[in-house]
Amino acid sequence: VGQNLVTLKEVDSTNTFLKNILSNSKPVPDGTVIMAERQFAGRGQRNNTWHAEPGKNLTFSILLRPSFLSASQQFYLTCAVSMGVYDALYPLLRDSLKIKWPNDIYFDDSKLGGMLIENILQGSQIKHSVIGIGLNVNQEVFAPDAVNATSIKKILQKDYELKNILAEICNHIEGYYLHLKAGRLEFVRNMYLSRLYWLNEVRQFKSNGHIFEGTIINVKENGLLVVKQQNGEQEYNLKEIEFLNK
Ligand code: BTN
Repeated sequence: VGQNLVTLKEVDSTNTFLKNILSNSKPVPDGTVIMAERQFAGRGQRNNTWHAEPGKNLTFSILLRPSFLSASQQFYLTCAVSMGVYDALYPLLRDSLKIKWPNDIYFDDSKLGGMLIENILQGSQIKHSVIGIGLNVNQEVFAPDAVNATSIKKILQKDYELKNILAEICNHIEGYYLHLKAGRLEFVRNMYLSRLYWLNEVRQFKSNGHIFEGTIINVKENGLLVVKQQNGEQEYNLKEIEFLNK
């Protein structure tokens, strides 16, 4: 991963760019990374936009072809990529680093980065996986509405070389990807679970307009979040539940 690196000065979105070249059936080697200094239409999860100050942060997409995973196993890729980013940053940020379900990178209660994984299926197999990662590195000032955003610089008061962090992330993702390829799916999911934000803690959530206390006890093989509540266990999809910070 990362052997073939393309750096763009400016693009709408590295995910969109990569998907476009794939749909024009241009040959793109596995592990290709498209990185942008600036995205003017960066996309996030839940149809959100992704904003990052140009030149100061990592915004890139990786192409993988996990043909060994079926569509129903997509979540394992989320686990592998999240763990790759986690392990790359762990030497710097240690135990305050967490993975917020499904795939946000958190430092304490602040968001450091996120990912947008877009899988292109062929029948029931994954044909291409476009893995977009946004990580706040050297940005110091955030928009007032990005209340819980942080960056490595805000945390450690130091500038970091984007290319070095990128290389670490690529190496660690490759490691987890090879675990998946070798069939160690549950190992990778268990690693992910062990780093999960709010795991086994009593917390507040919101779903369907109502607020309740619950405890995250698991993330299932299909990626559903399992929250234990007074009236039993409930499973949630991405758009069905919100975490309420105090
Ligand atoms: C999220 O937390 O909502 C996911 C953010 C993903 C942002 C990255 S930046 C590189 C890639 N290109 C995009 O348009 N989005 C992803």
